[in-house]
Formats: sequence, C-alpha cells, structure tokens
Amino acid sequence: MKPRPEAVRGGTRAITSLQNERVKLIRSLNMRKSRRETGLFVAEGASVLVAARDAGWQPAILVLLAGSATAGVARELLAWAHAAGAECLEVSQAVLGKLAAKDNPQTMLAVFEQRWQSLPAPPAAGSDALWVVLEAVRDPGNLGTIIRTVDAVGASGVVLIGAGVDPYAREAVRATMGSVFSVPLVRAGQQDGLNWLARWPGDVVGTRLDARDDFRATAYRPPTLLLMGSEGPGLSADLTAVCSRLVRIPMAGRLDSLNLAVATALMLYEMRKKQL
Ligand SMILES: C[S@@+](CC[C@H](N)C(=O)[O-])C[C@H]1O[C@@H](n2cnc3c(N)ncnc32)[C@H](O)[C@@H]1O
Repeated sequence: MKPRPEAVRGGTRAITSLQNERVKLIRSLNMRKSRRETGLFVAEGASVLVAARDAGWQPAILVLLAGSATAGVARELLAWAHAAGAECLEVSQAVLGKLAAKDNPQTMLAVFEQRWQSLPAPPAAGSDALWVVLEAVRDPGNLGTIIRTVDAVGASGVVLIGAGVDPYAREAVRATMGSVFSVPLVRAGQQDGLNWLARWPGDVVGTRLDARDDFRATAYRPPTLLLMGSEGPGLSADLTAVCSRLVRIPMAGRLDSLNLAVATALMLYEMRKKQL
C-alpha cells in the first residue's frame, strides 16, 4: 500500500501514520544500538525541552500533539524549533502514544544530537574542578539522578568508565530533569580511564564500604575526582588502586550499602560544602 502523503502546515508536518519514517526513527531510539549508530537521543516534556533551549541546544526534530502549541510554552518551543531549522511534526494521539513514555506521557518530545567530551586535561593544582567518575553504572535512573546532582552542586561533569548504561537512554534522560543538557559527559575505556586517573594532580577519592576513613572527617585536596563503584560489585580493584583517599559513609542499620545515587549525593555535598 502506498503511504499517505503527510500534510504540511506552517513549516510543521502533520503525521498520522505509524509507518512514517521519522516515527520509526524516533521509536528506534529506544534501543541503544540505534542511539549509537545515529548519535541521536530523545528528550520528553516541555520543562526538559525548556532546559535544552536555555542551555543553547537545538533539536533536530520536535514532535508535538496536533493542536497543542497554540499558546504558552508549547508555542515558544515550536518557535525555537523552527528557528533552529528542526523538523517539526504534529502527530495524532495514536502516534504520540507510540512515541512517548508509557508512564507519565508528555505532549512534546524532541530528538537531539548526543554530545560527548574528551577526558579533560588535568587542571592546575588547587583548581576547584570536581569530576564524578562512575564505573559501569547499571541503573539508568541512578545515572540520571547523579547527573542531576552534579548539576545541583556545580561540579564539573561525569566521566563514565567501562561498560555501563547509556546516559542518553530515555529513562536516564528523564531522571536528569534537563541536567543532561548542562552537565559535560565523558566516556572512556578502562585503560584510558586508568591512565587519566593516574595523572590527576589532586585527590582521587574512592568510596568503599570497607574503607576506614569517614567521608566527613577528611579534607580533600583540590582538584578532586570522586570515584563511585557500580551497583553490583562496587569499586573495582583497578580503580581502587589509583585512589589517593578511600572513604566510607557510615551506616547504622543492617543494610548492605546505600543506593549509588544517594551515596554520590552525600559525597558531593560534603566535597562542595565550602562552595555551597
Ligand atoms: C550499591 S553500592 C555497591 C555495593 C557493593 N555490594 C559493594 O560491596 O561495594 C554502589 C556504590 O555506592 C557507593 N556506596 C554505597 N554505600 C556506601 C557507603 N556506605 N560508603 C561508601 N560508599 C558507598 C560505593 O561507591 C559503591 O561502590
């Protein structure tokens, strides 16, 4: 069957078919393979898109529910997308239902190009740079929450070492609440990461359940790196070996450990207490 031609209104294309190529592309971005091949990702919701706009990003594609951008922020975002030369697609509820998240679906979403930075050059001694280094994070919600917290404390960014979840996965992007657009992200292989860590001029702070030092009883020498282990095995022996400090967060209960994102937040607020 021949596909129905899509109507074009005021620079915005109306799409009702699930067979449309753009609809298929956006759906495919739920898969890591497609995100890796295209270098694209999806962000949903007007407030997240406002964060993207305010951070200077430009969408490649904007999708909105037909008839929903007549006023307010939706209209502003449509104007932003038009000015950026993005493809603007007005879709039916049925199409939006296939593109938006199933829980808490939004009436707007956009596709962006991923941004990755190289491992930063070691800063001058005393600089207040503070990078969070994550080893093989497994939970996209944890990763997104950590990116959001890095933004909250004004830390430098996040370095992802080894095989872990993708910060541009939909669930991770959602958990960042827009901070994915302002926090620099770096990914590095294990060996490149270890070489970079070994040249760091300030404290490389590792967090471990078996460390002796209380995280609050210690002064960290800037610039600092905060190393957090993965949800399963914790910080690996290789990364532990390059740390200049190892600290633990005391726990009174019978639990095994704190949630990774919670432990990262406690560490970041302690390490940033002078600036905050
Ligand atoms: C869920 S924990 C991993 C627990 C893992 N079974 C272990 O033995 O380390 C994930 C990461 O959060 C940090 N973490 C969680 N609770 C901590 C605590 N009480 N003290 C220090 N680090 C902690 C560590 O970086 C840890 O690798």
